[in-house]
Amino acid sequence: MDMGFYRLIRPFVFAFDAEAAHRATIKALALLPPRALPQFAPSLASDIAGLTFPSPVGLAAGFDKDGEVPDAMLGLGFGFVEVGTLTPRPQDGNPRPRLFRLVEDQAVINRMGFNNRGQSDALERLWRRKRRGPSTQVRTGVVGVNIGANKDSADRIEDYVAGVKAMAPVADYLTINISSPNTPGLRNLQAGGELIELLGAVAAARGEGGPPIFLKVAPDLAPGDHERIVRAAIDARIDALIVANTTVSRPMLESRVKHESGGLSGAPLKSLALDALRRFRSASGSELPLIAAGGIASVDDAWARIEAGASLVQLYSGLVYHGPGLARRIADGLVERLAERGMSSIADAVGSG
Ligand SMILES: Cc1cc2nc3c(=O)[nH]c(=O)nc-3n(C[C@H](O)[C@H](O)[C@H](O)COP(=O)(O)O)c2cc1C
Repeated sequence: MDMGFYRLIRPFVFAFDAEAAHRATIKALALLPPRALPQFAPSLASDIAGLTFPSPVGLAAGFDKDGEVPDAMLGLGFGFVEVGTLTPRPQDGNPRPRLFRLVEDQAVINRMGFNNRGQSDALERLWRRKRRGPSTQVRTGVVGVNIGANKDSADRIEDYVAGVKAMAPVADYLTINISSPNTPGLRNLQAGGELIELLGAVAAARGEGGPPIFLKVAPDLAPGDHERIVRAAIDARIDALIVANTTVSRPMLESRVKHESGGLSGAPLKSLALDALRRFRSASGSELPLIAAGGIASVDDAWARIEAGASLVQLYSGLVYHGPGLARRIADGLVERLAERGMSSIADAVGSG
């Protein structure tokens, strides 16, 4: 869908409460007939953590929490799709309203609180998808599964271990999400001793031959945290870091709903997320692949992250303001950018800024 058409229907979409519009979008996407995977230029392909990503532009977690529409999203031009966050048991999440558009700021605030139907429900759906096999070309894209802990869990580390075991068979990669601001105390798992224990436990649960494991971190970290997290991740053989989740900080904002609590994403997160990425890059060199998220809504945004050291990028909030064709437009723009610089692959551009 081109930007002109989305601009036309956007007021209609925005007339609905944000969560109702999102639900309607998922329902509509689930009804789409299977489509052939879009073809990407060979220069966009890269091998990260043993997986081949046909384009470096992915869908961030939270859009397709229950894994209902991964193929539809791949069909729209994402090189990879991250479903989840999925918790071991289903949970309702926080009371509504819990999702807010900040139109003047091109931003979103959410305090969904890991609403999802649980891992066994998604597992069944993702198994069905896998069993259908690559009979149509649609099903060859990379699909990751993002896992979390239930809010009322007595042992959060055990929830991640259970998630790794349950979801590994249907996941091209797993993401350990310890950076959502909407489950009280969850982000404490980013702290020293807890993080080492958690990463050791998930690495053991994956065992030999399991999928790669990515760790998703918050943009709101203290000086020194970046080095410590990188060290813990490398020691536990984590395969990549996703930088970053939403922020609990509130940069200058215009919108009426700016004081709603929750995680902020979209344009105002951009400089914070880029800054966090740079810190992680300087802490890790090229030892640990980095995946950038936070306020990416254009080719320039994606290119800046790649130059700053990201091997892949993910987006979510940009879709709300720029429409479903955004991933494809960014991918096409990256092909041009590489050609202009005389580079033959994304890998040549990673960390070149
Ligand atoms: C409504 C909403 C729900 C989200 N849910 C999740 C989630 O369940 N798990 C997760 O790891 N990140 C979640 N995120 C964070 C995004 O994956 C992403 O890290 C963040 O929004 C920054 O990217 P963006 O500015 O492109 O949206 C959510 C974001 C939004 C806007």
